[in-house]
Amino acid sequence: MKKILVTGSSGLIGSEMCTHFAVQGWKIHGLDNNQREVFFGPQGDTRWNQQRLATSIRGFEHHELDLRDRDGLLELVRQLRPDAIVHTAAQPSHDRAADIPFDDFDTNAVGTLNLLEAARRHCPEAPFVHMSTNKVYGDRPNEIALREMDTRWEYDDPEYREGIAEDFPVDQSKHSLFGASKLAADIMVQEYGRYFDMPTCCLRGGCLTGPNHSGVELHGFLSYLVKCNLEGREYRIFGYKGKQVRDNIHSEDVARFAAAFIETPRVAEVYNIGGGKDNSCSILEAFEIAAGITGKQQVFTYLDENRIGDHICYYSDLTKMREHYPNWDISIGLVETVTQIAQSFRQRLTA
Ligand SMILES: NC(=O)c1ccc[n+]([C@@H]2O[C@H](COP(=O)([O-])OP(=O)(O)OC[C@H]3O[C@@H](n4cnc5c(N)ncnc54)[C@H](O)[C@@H]3O)[C@@H](O)[C@H]2O)c1
Repeated sequence: MKKILVTGSSGLIGSEMCTHFAVQGWKIHGLDNNQREVFFGPQGDTRWNQQRLATSIRGFEHHELDLRDRDGLLELVRQLRPDAIVHTAAQPSHDRAADIPFDDFDTNAVGTLNLLEAARRHCPEAPFVHMSTNKVYGDRPNEIALREMDTRWEYDDPEYREGIAEDFPVDQSKHSLFGASKLAADIMVQEYGRYFDMPTCCLRGGCLTGPNHSGVELHGFLSYLVKCNLEGREYRIFGYKGKQVRDNIHSEDVARFAAAFIETPRVAEVYNIGGGKDNSCSILEAFEIAAGITGKQQVFTYLDENRIGDHICYYSDLTKMREHYPNWDISIGLVETVTQIAQSFRQRLTA
């Protein structure tokens, strides 16, 4: 039986990876220390998700280990020698990073280096999928000419008709400390591919979401928005008139792409993974979609100040992913994703 090591296994993407690969017949080793609760407080607690994996996946092995524990990580990978690694553990918030710069960099950049080096020493043939982010592009996407529509911003430059592709510049723009620590990791993952000929890839995510997201105000916009809607809680919009655009992809589609890469790996690849133009929405549009599903109008306030470095309009150009992996495509659309998020929160709120 093939073994996979999934870091950040109790988080949104990690847990989806665990479930997906378990169904494919892999033995699942999850690594997580519930650091999300440390980063975000009780609302970020992921123990419920860890429990869910333990009860739903036969033979699931949880490793309570901090990614920053270099010796512990080297030893774990030496013992396991996994056939594939999916790295999703991270400090994932753009805004939180400035308050905890050491924790952010040590987790995102140094933790990734720890894992890469462990892989090089003990399983260099194993495909290595790294969850990166569109924040590696900093706020440079905000320089693209935009058109203001009634409910959203839209690209006004035909070059970006399909969205942002992987050759978009990554430097000389404001990234946030989070974007910088993730870019450091992204470059390292590429370098271990190119320099050591390891089958690595970086998935530069847009908004990754789904029913297992523990959305909080500082991370997980759609999940948090739906939660606010269901609880009748006020949602705060930060600038850009609420017309800022995000592309949303269901975590299952992210896992399906990771599986496609692991099955036919390439070296030092980079992909922009998001919902693409068809699954993009502004915050105002997300309010309408959520209201259409829950029957509740969103309560919100508007702060006329955007988050530092926040994208005004971002959606991924999925062309390269589709060309390299023609059997992969988005399988769950935006409305279905929001419906599933709402169902999950209803269950959690009544549990
Ligand atoms: N969710 C998104 O919208 C989004 C967008 C772009 C990129 N990404 C990237 O995808 C990856 C996964 O994101 P997510 O939304 O699933 O995040 P998440 O916070 O839900 O999951 C991350 C998990 O990693 C664990 N973790 C954090 N630090 C750790 C450490 N030092 N040691 C061990 N475990 C640790 C956390 O406890 C958590 O369970 C991250 O790399 C993130 O930057 C996410």
